[in-house]
Amino acid sequence: MPTDLTDQTVAVIGAGNIGRALVGGMLAGDALIEPERVWATRRSEDALQALAEEFPGLRTTTDNAEAARAASVVILAVKPQSADDVIEEIRKGTDADALVISVLAGRTTGGLQAAFGKELPVVRAMPNTPALVDEGATALAAGRFAGEGDLAVARRIFEAVGAAEVVEEHLMDAVTGLSGSGPAYVYMFIEALTDAGVKQGLPRRAAARLAAQTVYGASVLAVETEKHPALLRDEVTTPGGTAIAAVAELEDHGLRTTLIDAVATATERSKELAESE
Ligand SMILES: NC(=O)c1ccc[n+]([C@@H]2O[C@H](COP(=O)([O-])OP(=O)(O)OC[C@H]3O[C@@H](n4cnc5c(N)ncnc54)[C@H](OP(=O)(O)O)[C@@H]3O)[C@@H](O)[C@H]2O)c1
Repeated sequence: MPTDLTDQTVAVIGAGNIGRALVGGMLAGDALIEPERVWATRRSEDALQALAEEFPGLRTTTDNAEAARAASVVILAVKPQSADDVIEEIRKGTDADALVISVLAGRTTGGLQAAFGKELPVVRAMPNTPALVDEGATALAAGRFAGEGDLAVARRIFEAVGAAEVVEEHLMDAVTGLSGSGPAYVYMFIEALTDAGVKQGLPRRAAARLAAQTVYGASVLAVETEKHPALLRDEVTTPGGTAIAAVAELEDHGLRTTLIDAVATATERSKELAESE
């Protein structure tokens, strides 16, 4: 399969939060593909109308089978509980060579292949909500019949809404615990930092903006410099200064082990949920 998207036709089945972000990533700015080659489906006609207005040329329909029939790349972005019904609607019409990209939490590539009843190339993706502002972190895993070209196509789509890493499929639960659920931990961190500022007398609005921007700026510095976080931390901890006094307090209260345990718990929960599917 060519890795260039321009010759593909993409159907986003379930253009809600994540699906809409992917449509935007493919069509906004340096578009990866002509809008006429992208289909988006939902049940709500009004929501599809709004999407069509936002992305002129985008093809919209409530008919999942029609969109899948037209597509060489089918992105499954409905909620996991709707997935079986939707796959039943589209499986017959989906081309045997079509690439299926699934963002369904907890659904394995093998399970999806079985649901389609075909030896389809399937790539599983675990994005996170910052994809809504093109700053997502997505892990991708290839199924048995997906090759390097399929992974490259998926990578292009998810890199349009942030960063993407390829992992082995058995690590998807760990990804769910780390980056899939990670925004929740970071929001708690921002909220706590805000309260900490308020406790020291800062107005809440100023504290909230300073806290969020500090997390954002520190992240950009870590991503752009690719320096080890310990080096970046060393650069802001003057001997005998304020930051090292706070760092010692965080170590004393077990910030690292708390996070390690939190991600382990989320990973276990992801495994439990996948087993109950
Ligand atoms: N949000 C996250 O952080 C995140 C992270 C990783 C993975 N995921 C996965 O991403 C998937 C989507 O999550 P989301 O947060 O984007 O959910 P969402 O906003 O609810 O989007 C799902 C969309 O599917 C549409 N839909 C439902 N039934 C349909 C049907 N029968 N045919 C066509 N469209 C249908 C819904 O629109 P209508 O109601 O108009 O039909 C809705 O817009 C889930 O499987 C989730 O596991 C989400």
